[in-house]
Amino acid sequence: MARQATRKADQYDDPKYNYQDYWAGREYENAAEVMAIKRLLKGQHFKHAVDVGGGYGRLSKLLGSFADKVTLAEPSQQQLDIAKIYLKDTPSVERKLLQAADLEMPAKSVDLVLVVRVLHHLPDPMVELKEIARVLKPGGTFVLEFANDSHFLNRVRYGIRGKRVPRSPVSIQDEAKVKAGELPFVNHHPKTIIEMLQKAGFEVEMVLSGSNLRSPRVKKVLGKNVLLGLEKVMQPLLAPIYFGPSVWLRLKKK
Ligand SMILES: C[S@@+](CC[C@H](N)C(=O)[O-])C[C@H]1O[C@@H](n2cnc3c(N)ncnc32)[C@H](O)[C@@H]1O
Repeated sequence: MARQATRKADQYDDPKYNYQDYWAGREYENAAEVMAIKRLLKGQHFKHAVDVGGGYGRLSKLLGSFADKVTLAEPSQQQLDIAKIYLKDTPSVERKLLQAADLEMPAKSVDLVLVVRVLHHLPDPMVELKEIARVLKPGGTFVLEFANDSHFLNRVRYGIRGKRVPRSPVSIQDEAKVKAGELPFVNHHPKTIIEMLQKAGFEVEMVLSGSNLRSPRVKKVLGKNVLLGLEKVMQPLLAPIYFGPSVWLRLKKK
């Protein structure tokens, strides 16, 4: 059974916070994510895709070219309201106020789920992963992106101190704020997430290393075209060592 959804106000519902503005100046990151999704879904077409925690629908639009119907499942009413405008030319996307832990869809009813930049708000995502497994048909596809605590630079940083990157989620949010009710913000270790996914009934089909050049200094020196040319080569090449700050997985529901 899915956990009862517990809605709470968070920054995505704060009228002073505009998540769309976050993307200004992040054209490389956005294009790198679009590149990863296109790569993971190349040559495939789906009946019903769900963009879980899809915000204002930044990537739901893209899903529209891979599926007949797309549901933007998002717990923030403010994001859904922005999506209404952002997706006005994409009528195949329906907007629903939903949490990942309770998608309110029949079991085995969906053949593609996308989760991007959401796991950092879920320090223990097992309930959500099981709910995604429940709604996916056997053989269905799950594309997951999460913030990688074990990226190359972090491994070097820990190594210099004679330590290993922890397998448990690492909070990069002020703990006082989390206690005060703000959303948590954590980075995950790929091995921990993959173990959880296997327990939830998924099999890893493909891995990509994402946003490999996400550094203000590198971004300043290299233009967007050069960054994306390098990103294209690095995504598959560096996947086996989880090089980048973002890990992409294409999983199959068993
Ligand atoms: C950084 S945004 C990412 C939005 C979108 N996936 C994208 O990449 O543009 C994180 C989103 O996760 C949503 N979120 C937070 N907790 C969630 C939960 N428990 N279930 C589903 N979505 C959640 C937030 O409301 C927000 O829209």
